Order: sequence, then structure tokens, then C-alpha cells
Amino acid sequence: MDFYNRDEESRLVSPDFNSKDEENEVSLRPKMLYDYIGQDKIKENLKVFIDASKMRGEALDHVLLYGPPGLGKTTLAGVIANELNVQIRITSGPAIVKPGDLAALLTNLNEGDILFIDEIHRLPRTTEEILYSAMEDYALDIIIGQGPSARSLRVDLPKFTLIGATTRAGQLTAPLRDRFGCLFRLELYTPEELGTIVTRSAGILGINIEQDGAMEIASRSRGTPRIANRLLKRTRDFSEVMGSGVITESDARMALARMDIDEFGLDNIDRLLLRTIITNYNGGPVGLETMAAAIGEEAVTIEDVYEPYLMQIGFLARTPRGRVVTNAVYSYFDMPAPGQQSMM
Ligand code: ADE
Repeated sequence: MDFYNRDEESRLVSPDFNSKDEENEVSLRPKMLYDYIGQDKIKENLKVFIDASKMRGEALDHVLLYGPPGLGKTTLAGVIANELNVQIRITSGPAIVKPGDLAALLTNLNEGDILFIDEIHRLPRTTEEILYSAMEDYALDIIIGQGPSARSLRVDLPKFTLIGATTRAGQLTAPLRDRFGCLFRLELYTPEELGTIVTRSAGILGINIEQDGAMEIASRSRGTPRIANRLLKRTRDFSEVMGSGVITESDARMALARMDIDEFGLDNIDRLLLRTIITNYNGGPVGLETMAAAIGEEAVTIEDVYEPYLMQIGFLARTPRGRVVTNAVYSYFDMPAPGQQSMM
């Protein structure tokens, strides 16, 4: 029986932010648009919107950043703040419990400042409603008293920019989503972009790495900079203790093999998921919830964390009747593909 480590803190290819990433990411985070690698389309448009808001001397319109975890949404929010030369306050949906928490944050902003709310889809509904008038009219509507004598009081707010980040744009309510003027979907990075990020990070951290070594790490990082940076640090450990001290391609291969990350960047849980669809459900289609129960993982985790990458590399497809594995997965496992595999 294989041992599957379900602890996301210790899963090396988890895109979730862990405590060890923190020191790492802060120093590795690009400060300005020019050193933010990848997401070119977003950068080009953002530059226009930032320049226009500076030219008019107005606050930037509210921005929604969405896409899988680990792609740099918080980093991008920081970059926007630096480009605009304004302060950024960082919070998250689950951290804002009462409407008063949000009111306190909003009333403490200065003109032009950014309020960044990570996981904005997890904002409690009563709190979310406060945001509507704050975003639209830069005003807070406070209800004083109860029952027939209750009165509404309007408090003006500074003209601020809300940057919301979410892994699940579909879970935002329509009134909230409609109040964002700029919506950007972050895409998984290409291996070449990740290679550049790994080389840049190695430079900042003083790690010796060869181009081929960087590409080996990059191509196994599931399109995710947070994973690439983490694998870089772990590979350095292996290289320093057991290898040449300079991360060569062969050092990187040795380290990644030791960490059970294969040449596609897949780990045990990915393999369990794919193999379960083949052995228990004939390759699919299988519903998300059924699959989640079969491998003992949460459906949202499968959807946000595992599937985007498995779909990008063409191993998994979503169909109206459920998930199916593609023929590429049968070759991956060295199994004969079923003669007629329906993709629909
Ligand atoms: N580190 C993490 N994400 C990055 C990015 N997009 N560009 C540069 N460095 C990064």
C-alpha cells in the first residue's frame, strides 16, 4: 500500500501557500510590472489602465484577479500598488468576519489606496453587501438602531481601489462580480516562463544553476511559480548535499526523482486520481463528487488544485457527464487504451 501524504503543508507540488514559502516569496516577489514574468496579456492591459488612471489622477477601477492558486495574484496586487505608488492593505475573505471589520478597513484607507481581499468568494454575505456601495459610490451605508426607528447613515469613503482575488470566479455573486471594472484570468505559466522565473529566483537567492537544470525544475512545476520556487530550494538542498553544488540537469533529475515528482510534475495524488478513474470507472466519465469520495480528497481541492494542470497537459477532460482520462494517461501508465474511448 502506497503512502499518500495528504497534508497540503508538506505536499511539495501543492500550489497552496505554506509557512516556508513566506520568507521565500517576499524576497522573490517582483516589485514592478517589468520584472513580473509571464501573463503578458494581463500586463499589457494593466499598464494601460494604470497609466490612464495616473494621467487622470483618479483611483484605478476595481480589479478582479482569478485563476488557480500559486500563480501570483497577491504578487500582482503588490505590483499594481507599486506602479501606482499607493499603499496596499492586504486581507482575506475568511478574515473578515463582521461587517464592522470591513468598515474599519475601508475607513482607514487613504485616497487612491488599494484594499486587497484574497479569497474574496469566502466573504460572508452580510459583509459582502457593504462592499456594493463602497465600490460603486465610495460610501458606507450604516444602519443605526433597530425596527421602525432604524435609520440609515451614509459615510463617505476615500476613492480607493479594491483588488479581489479568487480561485473560483464562478462562486462570486453577480452583484459583486459586476462591480469590478477590470477582470483578469491568470493562466498557468509555460515551462519557458517558469524557467526564467527559476533562473531569476536562483539569482536572488544566490543559488548556482545551469540553464538545463532550471528547465528541468520548470517543466515539472505544474505551470505554477510558487511550486517552481519551492522545488528550486529543495533541489538546491539535494544538489549541495549529494550532487555537484551547481544545479545541473542531472542534479535536478536526481532531486525531483527523490521527491517523487515525475517528468510531468505529477505526484502520488495525481497518479492515484488518474489510476482510480481508469480502474474504478473505466476511464470515466465520472462525477467530481464520486471521484472525490473515491480518493478521499475534497471536491473543491480536486477542482482548483489538481484538475487545471491535468487538463492543461491533456490528461483529463471535463465533459457534461463527468471527468474522463485521455488516451495519453493509458500510455503514461503503460496500459493498453480501450479500443473505443469516447471523449464525450
Ligand atoms: N515569482 C513568482 N511569480 C513570479 C512572476 N510572475 N514573475 C517573476 N517572479 C515571480
